[in-house]
Amino acid sequence: MVGIQWGDEGKGKIVDFLTARADVVVRYQGGANAGHTVKIGDREYVLHLIPSGVLQEGKSCIIGNGVVVDPRSLIAELDQLRASGLDRDESLWISDRAHVVMPYHRALDQARESASGDGRIGTTLRGIGPCYTDKAARLGIRMADLVSPDRFRELLRRNLEVKNRELKLLYGAEPLEYESILDEYSTYADRLRPRVRDIADLLFAADREGRVILFEGAQGALLDVDLGTYPYVTSSNTSFLGIGAGTGFSPRRVGTVYGVAKAYSTRVGEGPFPTELEGEEAESLRQIGGEFGATTGRPRRCGWIDLVALRRTVRVGDVDALVITKLDVLDHLDEIRVCVAYRVNGRELERFPTYLDASIEPVYRTFPGWRTSLKGCREYDALPDAAREYLEFIAEASGCPIAMVSIGKERSETITLDPWLEPTGRYTPTSI
Ligand code: GDP
Ligand code: IMO
Ligand code: MG
Repeated sequence: MVGIQWGDEGKGKIVDFLTARADVVVRYQGGANAGHTVKIGDREYVLHLIPSGVLQEGKSCIIGNGVVVDPRSLIAELDQLRASGLDRDESLWISDRAHVVMPYHRALDQARESASGDGRIGTTLRGIGPCYTDKAARLGIRMADLVSPDRFRELLRRNLEVKNRELKLLYGAEPLEYESILDEYSTYADRLRPRVRDIADLLFAADREGRVILFEGAQGALLDVDLGTYPYVTSSNTSFLGIGAGTGFSPRRVGTVYGVAKAYSTRVGEGPFPTELEGEEAESLRQIGGEFGATTGRPRRCGWIDLVALRRTVRVGDVDALVITKLDVLDHLDEIRVCVAYRVNGRELERFPTYLDASIEPVYRTFPGWRTSLKGCREYDALPDAAREYLEFIAEASGCPIAMVSIGKERSETITLDPWLEPTGRYTPTSI
């Protein structure tokens, strides 16, 4: 299950819904830049690093090697779960090969963004880019290093020397102190050591035993470092294509790829957004949709759904079926617009462009709104005609069938069209 726009598509809610049918839930990329919200009763949980499947009892939750793990954030999350009565340390496994987000990664993220002026990305400042940079540069510290005291001391010494020079000389920032990081991270290591192991073997065994494995994407396909709106992207492979490298599990063994998209679009941070709305129209979507960042609290930019971009992310992400979320947020509208093509200098583009720059003019098709609350709808046929017409156009124009529609935050506010997703009551979850 992956996001196929710019993140925040409602993945947390959908993962929670699908978890009832899964045994194992796996994060394979990204880090604590993610904010996945799950509402259960009157409680709202926001998960950053731990798979959203953790809220259901008896599921194994795995953080793959492709994730960058900030132990401070991870432990805070485990403690928060504990405080709400969910003691989940024992359900969690972390790949020994996952890279560790260090305080100097956060400091560098901050320093680079501040120094970049108009060229900034608008990152979440969680140290994601700098950590993946060190991974590719082969300087990184992995979970296996964190939990080996001698190795960690040495790697920290070596890295900190260089990072402090960079912080001071390039950005005039304060250097960080070796001893305090060593103490802090050694405490984290003690807590996490029993949870660190090889993940590829674990997933291989789970698959061989017939367990249902659910991979939970973070961010969205348009934020993919290779195929997204570069450089305004995150630093990992966010689509289904990240699963193989991010876990060691063969992507050829993955069954169905669900792509989650909102019934409109949002984006946080800088970067192009052809269907972005301004003023009143944007504000109404933002307020009704609660479009404020789950990680940073920033107001999200809002606009119409972009079927040109969606067609592209469905294709390159090999999406089998769509999950359309937040359809209820459009309840109040008289008219709903859908971007069906991009035009530049009066000509329609044949292919998805490398740069989504300001010269792109979205071509819209307008649909009538349904102007009624979808709240009580539990079946596809119960949706108003106008809502069905809207959904069917999305499916047709994106070239991908719709498996599920979400019309509210609650697990029950979900309409399934894929028979496998119907709760049968026969399925007995097991865990590894
Ligand atoms: P994620 O990062 O993809 O998990 O999405 P976020 O949690 O950052 O943002 C999605 C927000 O929309 C959360 O506050 C969810 O509770 C909420 N949400 C999810 N599905 C729906 C829906 O169908 N309708 C409404 N109104 N809200 C939803
Ligand atoms: P979930 O998993 C929305 C955006 C940031 C910024 C860019 C790079 O909740 O959908 P980074 O900190 O990753 O270096 O920032 O990516 N971004 C997200 N936007 N949802 C997310 O996660 C995001 N994670 C990163 O706003 O534009
Ligand atoms: Mg989010």
